[in-house]
Amino acid sequence: MQKPVKKPIIAPSILSADFSNIAAAAADIDASGAEWIHLDIMDGKFVPNLTFGPKLASDLRPKSPGVFDAHLMVCEPERLADRFAQAGADYITFHIEAVTHAHRLAAAIHGLGKKAGVSLVPSTPLSLIEPLLAVVDLVLVMAVDPGFGGQELIPWCLDKIRALAGMRERAGQGFLISVDGGINQSTARSAREAGADVLVTGAAFFTAPDKAALVQALKG
Ligand code: DX5
Ligand code: ZN
Repeated sequence: MQKPVKKPIIAPSILSADFSNIAAAAADIDASGAEWIHLDIMDGKFVPNLTFGPKLASDLRPKSPGVFDAHLMVCEPERLADRFAQAGADYITFHIEAVTHAHRLAAAIHGLGKKAGVSLVPSTPLSLIEPLLAVVDLVLVMAVDPGFGGQELIPWCLDKIRALAGMRERAGQGFLISVDGGINQSTARSAREAGADVLVTGAAFFTAPDKAALVQALKG
């Protein structure tokens, strides 16, 4: 018998949207039934691509009722957290590989009145974020090497999600587990069964002709 899994939160990433019409992308996300909007912030240094900064988030804020999930793929994320807080981000997630004083940054994000998330790339072991698990609200597990949308999910990243869910259960912690990269109708179920609560979806969402149907399919 298949184990029942909780309905996930769906977080479409505007990385795969038409950047000349981001307001329409936000409207599509809202109409689809997805609860969150995932904002991929890239600095051209931490990852080999550039996207946008806090002004776009701030301009988009009044146009969308969704939860703003800012994923900072930048070096020195401590320099940008307050700008994204002011711009209206609800979750501010930084990469463990990009900071020295991660615990201090999580506390600073909480001090700004926001939820703090920590992310790790596929090659980073879970042990590196273990000391933060008692304080963060979200762990974003990258299932592709970050920088670009439309890549294929790396299957062994699901083992990290499974291990992380086990750590959370044993410690009685309450952080959300988000999976980012390569989520589509074929991969969503295994990501959920591994323990993901939030499914980030970029290419699959923005290429879907019927976005509401895709969201329902991802929720299963
Ligand atoms: C990758 C980004 C992801 C990505 C997800 O660096 O962090 O959010 O855009 O897009 P898909 O679903 O296309 O892999
Ligand atoms: Zn992302």
